[in-house]
Amino acid sequence: MKSKLSIDLAELRLANPAMLAAGILGMTSFSLKRVAEAGAGAVVTKSVGLKPRMGYPNPTVTQAEGGVLNAMGLPNPGIDYFAEEIRKTKSTVNCPVITSIYGFSAEEYAKIGKKAEEAGTDALELNVSCPHVEKVGCEIGQDPKILKTIVKTVKKNVSIPVFVKLTPNVTNIIEFAKTAEEGGADAVTAINTVRAMAINVETKRPILGNKLGGLSGPAIKPIALRCVYEIYPEVKVPIIGCGGIRSWRDAVEFILAGATAVQVGTAISFEGPEVFQSIKKGIEAYLKKEKHGSVREIVGLAHRG
Ligand code: FUM
Repeated sequence: MKSKLSIDLAELRLANPAMLAAGILGMTSFSLKRVAEAGAGAVVTKSVGLKPRMGYPNPTVTQAEGGVLNAMGLPNPGIDYFAEEIRKTKSTVNCPVITSIYGFSAEEYAKIGKKAEEAGTDALELNVSCPHVEKVGCEIGQDPKILKTIVKTVKKNVSIPVFVKLTPNVTNIIEFAKTAEEGGADAVTAINTVRAMAINVETKRPILGNKLGGLSGPAIKPIALRCVYEIYPEVKVPIIGCGGIRSWRDAVEFILAGATAVQVGTAISFEGPEVFQSIKKGIEAYLKKEKHGSVREIVGLAHRG
């Protein structure tokens, strides 16, 4: 039976549309379980690669006006180790588990995707949009030819749904959403962080160890919302809205713009996983007040003429 809050995302059924975004509390089965128990409709892991990776030197995170600036450098233990965390997570949570993956070639993405699938993940989210790691991330997501090859190759090698997380650091995000869809993506996530930086006026140097990073949080919400709104009429696959969502109001805005689901990341650093309960309750109250029967009914309503 479908509840008012439940949504279908590719082949996945989510009890509510608020998902955990990649990169926050997504590295262990313990933290993923904590987020699932707090009420997330699905959880997305931190991005995992083929081999263990240290990431950048500190500082990797700093506060910015209206958000957070980070350049972690994709630290992760590698898929062979992480597969066990996927298995443990799957055995302890009752919502879909999505593994975020990155690679340095199409074959690498496919290899990691297969291993994650074998470990029991419900779907993959291809990170082709990290704004500051060379030869991976948005260097891929900014090249339509490479992007399509990667999506196609992964799709050929797995049978679970494949989502593609898009970068906003392009002139026309519609082109990349369409490319992902043509490659066979089952959904697109819009957006990853915005390439950004901060400088310490006393030391007269960039604050982040990597100098450049990605901006997340409320400051990027209008950009993310615009991206979802622009993509919605141009693709048939569902869109997952991501960027600065911290309240039910933000979530509803994204759904009205065309998102089927939303991801919450930076807000968790400030408010904890409890933010999922308030988003869920708020969406439910909104549907009741506005006399809408379900979340599905309001997807894309802002496009009415
Ligand atoms: O630095 C990081 O690990 C960030 C990854 C991302 O933004 O995709």
